[in-house]
Parts: sequence; structure tokens; C-alpha cells
Amino acid sequence: MDNHNLLNKIYLFKDEKEIDCAAGSTILEATLAAQINHTHACGGQGKCSTCRVSIMDGIENCSPRNDQERRMASNLNFPNEIRLACQTKLKGNVSIRRMVSDKLDMDLISEQFSQDSGVAIGRQQRLTIVFTDIVNYTSFAERFPPYDIVHVLNRYYRIMNTIIQENNGIISDVAGDGILAVFGIEKHTENSVLDAVHAVKQMNQKLEDFNEYLSENFNTQFGIRAGIHFGNAIVGPFDTGSMKKMAIIGDNVNYASRIESANKEFGTQLLLSKEAYREVQSTYPNFNVFETTLKGKTGKYELFEIIS
Ligand code: FES
Repeated sequence: MDNHNLLNKIYLFKDEKEIDCAAGSTILEATLAAQINHTHACGGQGKCSTCRVSIMDGIENCSPRNDQERRMASNLNFPNEIRLACQTKLKGNVSIRRMVSDKLDMDLISEQFSQDSGVAIGRQQRLTIVFTDIVNYTSFAERFPPYDIVHVLNRYYRIMNTIIQENNGIISDVAGDGILAVFGIEKHTENSVLDAVHAVKQMNQKLEDFNEYLSENFNTQFGIRAGIHFGNAIVGPFDTGSMKKMAIIGDNVNYASRIESANKEFGTQLLLSKEAYREVQSTYPNFNVFETTLKGKTGKYELFEIIS
């Protein structure tokens, strides 16, 4: 049945309201007619994106994106379900969530226009996630004053960051002696797991020089343990107001961290998840495999050690 003459229904999640949308009206026209305080900074011209809504249900009932909306969606890397309410008409019922609630939301959105479009709003991406930590760090930190600890860690980060970048990765975060590095975000190389494995190997080679420095100055030596996983994670620019950074979040990030910790159990230096090892098996066909449980995860997991 042609329902162009019918009133379509819009259910608004946040407002917990159902409203009518007349045939030929946009979502924004319907919400404003229903006295909903729906942000629309450019007045509905498709230029600001502040009217954006997430279509929770009924995406098939939305009109296709027009040219104006298509340009905006492409600039901001919107997934299909994020639509401009001022440009979207309906041919059936939908459930939506308004995405801009207040001034802070507005500020965050306006900053998206000055960032790389690919990462402006965050996206899910298949990535190689690497956690490393330093063997012997705790005993070093117990013996030396804060100045030395900070200085040595900064020296270590500086050296390792260069290697990670040379292998197409970035450091997403550091915490104490731990580094969270990600491969496959910025440069689309053929095999980001291979890049990560090469980076870890080069980090260990470079550590030999670093250990000479540590032996001379602190009578200590470091080692590196690393865990590598390949899977989906959410990548986005996170901004506290005083600190901005590109970060990754998601269960697979925790998984990579657990893999790194499992090195202690098996006396290994580098372990890969099954998903990561599969990506490099043709280059490194020889392996040891360990079956284990991982903290915070159910079931057993196979972890792989590359034998070069
Ligand atoms: S109100 Fe500005 S893009 Fe919709």
C-alpha cells in the first residue's frame, strides 16, 4: 500500500515520545512541530550537522541521502544510520535518538569540522593492537628516585616511538612501563600484524643499546614483553578539554592486554592471539602454541609464540 498520505510515526528514544511526521515533512520539521528542542544551528540547510540523529529502527523508511547530506556524511564519515534530520523524509515509521543535547555536544561537533574526516566522529576498524611492558621495571622503579624513573621512561618511549612509527604504527597510550600501540589506523599497509611483529622485534634489538646505557648508569637491564591481537576496535579522538588524543577502546583492547600478561605464565616475550597469528603464519610458519584462560574472559584461548 502507498502510505504517502499517512502520518508516519517517529519514536524519540531520549525524549520517550512518539510524534507524527506528515508526508513530505522532514524529521526536523516533525520534531519542531511537536515542540521538541531539536538543535538545528544552520536552520535546516544541511550545513551544520547539529540536527543529526541516529536511526535506531526503520532506516529502510528514510529517504535516500540527497546531495547536500551525502557531502556532509562523507566529510564526517557518518555511518548509514546517522542522518541529518533536516534532510531526511520518511515513508514509514522510525525510532530515532537525537545526538546533540547541549552546548558541550555542540562544541564537540564544531571541532569535528577541523579534524581529519576519517576519524572525526570515531569509527570501528579492524586493527592490530599491541601491548608491551618492561621486564625488570618494578625493581628499577623501587631503587631509583622519581627523576631517574621519569627520565629513563621518557628515553625509552622516545626510542620505541620512533620504531613503532617507522613500522606504520602509533602509540595510543602509555601507562607506567606499558605501551599500547596500534597498527593499521593511519597508513593502510598490506599486513598490519606483520608490521607489529617487525616493530616488536626491532624494539628488542634496540633494547640492546638501551641496556648498555642502563647498565652504565643504573646497573640494570630491561626486557620487553609484548602481546598482539588483531580485531575490531573503536578509534576516535578523545578530548578531556585539556588533553586530546587519538585512542582506541573496546573488548579487543583488553584482550591484547591479557595476552601480554600471559607472557609471564609461559616465560615468553611475544605472544599472538590466534587471529593475529593467522595473519602472519605464511611468513612465520613455525610456532609454539599455549592454551590458557585469560583474566576477565571466559573459555580457553590459544596463544601463539613465533619461532624464527
Ligand atoms: S540543521 Fe544544520 S544540518 Fe540540519
